[in-house]
Amino acid sequence: MSLKQLQANYSALQERGLTLDLTRGKPSPQQLDLSTELLSLPGATDFVAENATDTRNYGGLQGLVEARRLLSSVLEAPAEQIVLANNASLSLMHDILVFALLKGTCDSSEPWSKQGDIAFLCPVPGYDRHFKICEDYGIRMIPVRLLEDGPDMDEVERLVAADASIKGMWCVPKYSNPTGTVYSDSVVERLAAMKTAANDFRIFWDNAYAVHHLTEEQVSIANLLERSAAHGHANRAFVFASTSKITFAGAGLAAVAASKPNVQWLLTRLTPRTIGPDKINQLRHVRFLKNQEGITALMEKHRQLLAPKFEAVLEIFATELSGLSDVSWTTPKGGYFISLEVPAGCAKRVVALAKDAGVVLTPAGATHPYGKDPEDRTIRIAPSFPNLAEVQEAAKAVALCVQLAAAEKFEQVAV
Ligand SMILES: Cc1ncc(COP(=O)(O)O)c(C=O)c1O
Repeated sequence: MSLKQLQANYSALQERGLTLDLTRGKPSPQQLDLSTELLSLPGATDFVAENATDTRNYGGLQGLVEARRLLSSVLEAPAEQIVLANNASLSLMHDILVFALLKGTCDSSEPWSKQGDIAFLCPVPGYDRHFKICEDYGIRMIPVRLLEDGPDMDEVERLVAADASIKGMWCVPKYSNPTGTVYSDSVVERLAAMKTAANDFRIFWDNAYAVHHLTEEQVSIANLLERSAAHGHANRAFVFASTSKITFAGAGLAAVAASKPNVQWLLTRLTPRTIGPDKINQLRHVRFLKNQEGITALMEKHRQLLAPKFEAVLEIFATELSGLSDVSWTTPKGGYFISLEVPAGCAKRVVALAKDAGVVLTPAGATHPYGKDPEDRTIRIAPSFPNLAEVQEAAKAVALCVQLAAAEKFEQVAV
């Protein structure tokens, strides 16, 4: 289609006055409705948990044992190696990192903040809120390319072996945000086995989408905790998950699994911070989800709501964008996002065009440290929240903006 024709189509799009939001990976109201029963649990008389724990009272820093058992299948770790927190796993990641900065890990000779300039490896594209934590606390971020089966391990191994200031690494190992990437067994093995110059190096293994499948295939990944221990690096991994996208995003349970020394370290660090988490919410989740089968059945209902939205976006992209040079997108088997790659230098323009046509996208650059995508190529698409008709509208609008931005760029090159 000619630039002129695309401009005319874009003006027509603007005239429609859309107001659509594809920014954040939020569950839709219909997904939240699946867990409405939680609002009436555990009920007025049901507040005593196992071991005669009165959930209304203080205490129980590590979390109810039955709630830890419930999440043990998601974290793939035994209950004694799990610590439960309140509703956001992001808070756990933030706090563990800040504790390490202020007090050091259980393997540190000194707090990270006293060890000079420190850095984290950041697979890109990645999750903006991970990057924001590092940016906020002045931790240097080193981007590493995310390949089809996980981070570029040659590069990761080379960097961590040579540089003791690299203290950690962010990983979203399954259905990664935003690409949907699943780490291969060989990548997990290399992460577990690699030699690091820092003896207090930590992998922040954010398994936010552990049970969030979009296809019938329930993809599984190798167990980093077990593999790290097998290689003599038992303290390397902190494994995070939450029920934010299983039950309620604003009122779920967050959890971290780690080695026993890491768990002990964390409980010690948490002691001045809280007398205990919200155990009533933990009990409510146990009563509602019951067991692994309960989680699987609920996640299947989420899939029924989510998969058609992802299929709609992918179908529209295939129809509208196939054949456009330097344009590609991911086909995730789970998680909450599709990553759209547009011609270099066009991502910001696409996001601006979409905004002016009433479709808000995640800011271009958000998928990279410091909000800077050096090639200005990656756009994160989050189809979960709007209804199916809105998702279709939005995907068509985005596709037109990509076509227009690409045509503008081609025109400039041609002139
Ligand atoms: C990779 C990743 N980690 C963590 C979160 C937030 O998790 P929580 O709600 O448990 O803080 C998200 C939410 O989008 C995410 O995509």
